[in-house]
Amino acid sequence: MKILRSVNALRRWRKQRHVEDALLGFVPTMGALHAGHRSLMKRARRSCQNVVVSIFVNPLQFSPTEDLDEYPRPRRADIAICRNERIDAVFIPKRQDLYSSDFQTFVTVNHLGQRWEGAQRNTHFQGVTTVVTKLFHLVKPDCAYFGQKDYQQLCIVRRMVEDLNHDVQIVRCPTIREADGLALSSRNKYLSEHARQRAPLLYQALQAGKSAIQRGAASVSRIEALMRRVVEDESHAKVDYLAVCHADTLEPLKHAQGKMVLLGAIRLGKVRLLDNLLVQISR
Ligand code: PAJ
Repeated sequence: MKILRSVNALRRWRKQRHVEDALLGFVPTMGALHAGHRSLMKRARRSCQNVVVSIFVNPLQFSPTEDLDEYPRPRRADIAICRNERIDAVFIPKRQDLYSSDFQTFVTVNHLGQRWEGAQRNTHFQGVTTVVTKLFHLVKPDCAYFGQKDYQQLCIVRRMVEDLNHDVQIVRCPTIREADGLALSSRNKYLSEHARQRAPLLYQALQAGKSAIQRGAASVSRIEALMRRVVEDESHAKVDYLAVCHADTLEPLKHAQGKMVLLGAIRLGKVRLLDNLLVQISR
């Protein structure tokens, strides 16, 4: 496995690896790799002859009040995981390699980037789409793998790929969970013991919403109230949002119909948990 620590090293590797008909798969990450990231690598490995993983804690997607400096960076363990997953190359650029002191070009996805997570963290998705664009230009993958765990991010990246004619296929990979339903996340390790016990409530609330829809509930305000009760009756968690939305546009719905996504974000102490479930009905 090659470890590429600069843009130039990546470009050289990419030129050598260019073979007609061999697919290149790409898994962008911020490191602190866990079984969720590993599932993306395995999925890429199944379909592509070459697989590149990037590890870069992207400063542009953190607001000044967020945990950029504290974000975990266990590089040795990350590299060992990539080796285990038979990755061909890991790209670990330095900050100044991607962002010169004069950096001033950004990629913004308008409406999709402004609601839900975007409303809480106003330059977050611009940071994501800017770095993903740069990474796509450098790696030039045929397929790129993203987790459903960050559903809004996935929709925004898809929108950007279509709008900007990026020549890459975006593959959605299912959310990997702990046995009790909590979606894996690099930030789960910040949960206190008490908060960790309550953390599966978010998934349980989304499940309750999904089964209500499948049993025929149509009024979104009732479904949302039901989900909210699951979280609030059992904990001191603060609900940021629990919403029933159109699965592609992420517009909030009034009545359950067609292909939907239930989006949730709650705060447990200092930790913010995100999760979602897809649900489809024929009415
Ligand atoms: P990061 O949070 O490291 O996540 C990298 C990829 O792993 C994302 O596509 C994310 O959705 C996926 N992932 C995380 N937890 C998962 C889980 N429990 N199950 C399945 N997939 C999971 O997302 C980012 O980094 C960054 O925003 C990035 C796209 C790399 C741009 O900086």
